[in-house]
Amino acid sequence: MRVDCISLRRIFNSRGEETTEAIIFSGDKIGIGSSPSGASVGSKEAKLVDLNEGMKNFEGIKNKFCGDFSQESFDELLEKNLDKLGGNITTALSFAYFNLDKESLVYKTEGEMPYPLGNAVGGGVHSGKMEIQEILVLPVNAKNVYEAIKTNFEIWKEIKEKYKDKFFGVNDEGALVMDFGNEEALKIVSEIAGKYKARIGIDLAASELFKDGAYCYGEKKLSKEDQFELVSKWIEDYDLYYIEDPFEENDNENFKKLREKFGDKCLIVGDDLFATHKENLDNEIANSVIVKPNQIGTISGAIKCIEKTKKLGMVPVLSHRSGETCDTTIAFLSLLTPIAKFGISQIRVAKLNELIRIWELLEICNKDKEPRMAKLK
Ligand code: PGA
Ligand code: ZN
Repeated sequence: MRVDCISLRRIFNSRGEETTEAIIFSGDKIGIGSSPSGASVGSKEAKLVDLNEGMKNFEGIKNKFCGDFSQESFDELLEKNLDKLGGNITTALSFAYFNLDKESLVYKTEGEMPYPLGNAVGGGVHSGKMEIQEILVLPVNAKNVYEAIKTNFEIWKEIKEKYKDKFFGVNDEGALVMDFGNEEALKIVSEIAGKYKARIGIDLAASELFKDGAYCYGEKKLSKEDQFELVSKWIEDYDLYYIEDPFEENDNENFKKLREKFGDKCLIVGDDLFATHKENLDNEIANSVIVKPNQIGTISGAIKCIEKTKKLGMVPVLSHRSGETCDTTIAFLSLLTPIAKFGISQIRVAKLNELIRIWELLEICNKDKEPRMAKLK
């Protein structure tokens, strides 16, 4: 598509931080995209550039971005300028180009929709009493996207109501901040999720817990071996369907051991481990991959990572960040993955409601094939 005119503006994300929004005009179409931002940021992610500096740098090269492009050629130019613009600005620009024609992806897919994986109870660097950053629910029995989102909300509401004397509020991702320790939270969420026939998972974001060679739980320090034992116990005791970053981003040895021990019954998911870079993927150390477009800086980079994930027999999971805008680009991209990790409440509904709209779009535009939920392993 032809890019006639392109510009950047400053907007705010859900944490009240400044972020970039890009606007592209192409004939009578307008594409808008904005960048999310993380709190537990891995060291392998695309580097960020100060917003003032990045926007000034963009002004100097902006003419190069006008003319005829495909998503790939537009993103290639962004990748060449990643050092000057930072992943924060390239992501907004890449999203804006994609959004000129985002519906075309709906026509190209097989009509499978992802299961929403929702962060019910939060902790770690997202705030909360637990060291576990997220306890997640997955409505594996839902028949459609609407029912799946409703199930996650029901679980979230029931925890909040039943334990209102232990409820402090909600965190950056809209997850409940509760007066629960790790084990208590796991027990309560698994009991309530079980009532709704949903499965549970956790994101430990363990790079954040790892200090001076040990995994730190308050005053308590666990060796790598002890961390392996604790994680194994949680997978078994709570029948976890999903465990993300149970070890720090360079602890490949533990990842490999866990993959060998539980790889056939649980998704062992790499977030900071792979940082959406396809060259980092390794199916011997995990069987699932978090895909966050801003970790690589472009839509094409994220799609290539999804394709390689599938080729390696691993499960891709499209994910939001803890600092978000109402941008819904990743709802469209999640048509390429069986799981969409978008949170449950607050600003997170922007993307979840987009999934409901996409389901209807599929019904309208794909008359031969009913939309259906993706296959889970
Ligand atoms: P982040 O957290 O967006 O703060 O990095 C989400 C995650 O770790 O998955
Ligand atoms: Zn994570």
